[in-house]
Amino acid sequence: MARKHILHMLTPLRHMSPFDVNMAVDAGYDVVVPYVEVGLAEVTGLVQDAIFSRPPDAGVNTGIFIAGKDAALALDMFAAAKKAMVPPFKISVFADPAGSFTTAAAMVAKTEKLLRSKFERTLDNTRITVFGATGVVGYCTAVIAAREGAEVTLVGHDGVERVTKIAADIKRRFDVDTWPVDGSSDDRKKDAVHASQVVLSAAKAGIQVLSRDQLSQAQDLLIAADVNAVPPAGIEGLGVSANGDPIEATRAVGIGPLAIGNVKYKTEFGLFQKMIGAEKPVAYDFQDAFTLAREIAK
Ligand SMILES: NC(=O)c1ccc[n+]([C@@H]2O[C@H](COP(=O)([O-])OP(=O)(O)OC[C@H]3O[C@@H](n4cnc5c(N)ncnc54)[C@H](OP(=O)(O)O)[C@@H]3O)[C@@H](O)[C@H]2O)c1
Repeated sequence: MARKHILHMLTPLRHMSPFDVNMAVDAGYDVVVPYVEVGLAEVTGLVQDAIFSRPPDAGVNTGIFIAGKDAALALDMFAAAKKAMVPPFKISVFADPAGSFTTAAAMVAKTEKLLRSKFERTLDNTRITVFGATGVVGYCTAVIAAREGAEVTLVGHDGVERVTKIAADIKRRFDVDTWPVDGSSDDRKKDAVHASQVVLSAAKAGIQVLSRDQLSQAQDLLIAADVNAVPPAGIEGLGVSANGDPIEATRAVGIGPLAIGNVKYKTEFGLFQKMIGAEKPVAYDFQDAFTLAREIAK
């Protein structure tokens, strides 16, 4: 009899995301079990409880999913889960807190594709400014772009203090530089846009972060992308389905949340399917999400 595919879904929050539950089942998991309000210190025990209940060759049929709303905590939980394995007892692990790893991967992959096809350039040395940088999607977007050689600026909507700490955390974890700036006024946001070649907006749903006026005179701006699908648009004038379309009254082209969401959906679904189909236990984080998103966005 074929072994069932079982996914243990861990979140530090009160609820597991229904989005992720649906996606895991649609991708092929037979059984998904949510564990809520899980602390970092509890990850080792839960993983070891799962690995020892099935023979080592069933490790590949058993998975851990790490959710939540905090990129740094999810990365710590991911590291703890991997460390908890006792070879030959190993299982698969996939982290995607609030869909952020796959969303950020999709946004950067779509941007990279457009940079190449429309402007014949790569992410390397491209000046990228991330709005919503204190959020889980923004954090991950910044890390992926910086690791590809982009000069990444983190905009703090409430000042520079929190983004300075985030830049330090990114440096400590990934040894890449990002630059914090104060985006607490319209003029400061405008300055940040004017210094950019690419603007990536990952701010809270339903909040307009940038106006047409802030974008209109940005001479170097090539691309503006936004992941917020809830009206009003995060970037005024950027259509939800924009896929390299010009943004009216600006020099830039846009990538909207539905174009990014299409790649995001396929990336998260695809990573669940790869976990299920793997021959050995796997561990997927945002870098694996970016690798797959790049293939999908091609
Ligand atoms: N298209 C897709 O496929 C897809 C998938 C997943 C998520 N999303 C979207 O991605 C976005 C980011 O998600 P998330 O989970 O990281 O969101 P989040 O936690 O709600 O916050 C994102 C960021 O927005 C900031 N923010 C809050 N109020 C603001 C304001 N008035 N002005 C400017 N920034 C403000 C937050 O700052 P604080 O730290 O101060 O709260 C944070 O930096 C959301 O719009 C979400 O809907 C899209």
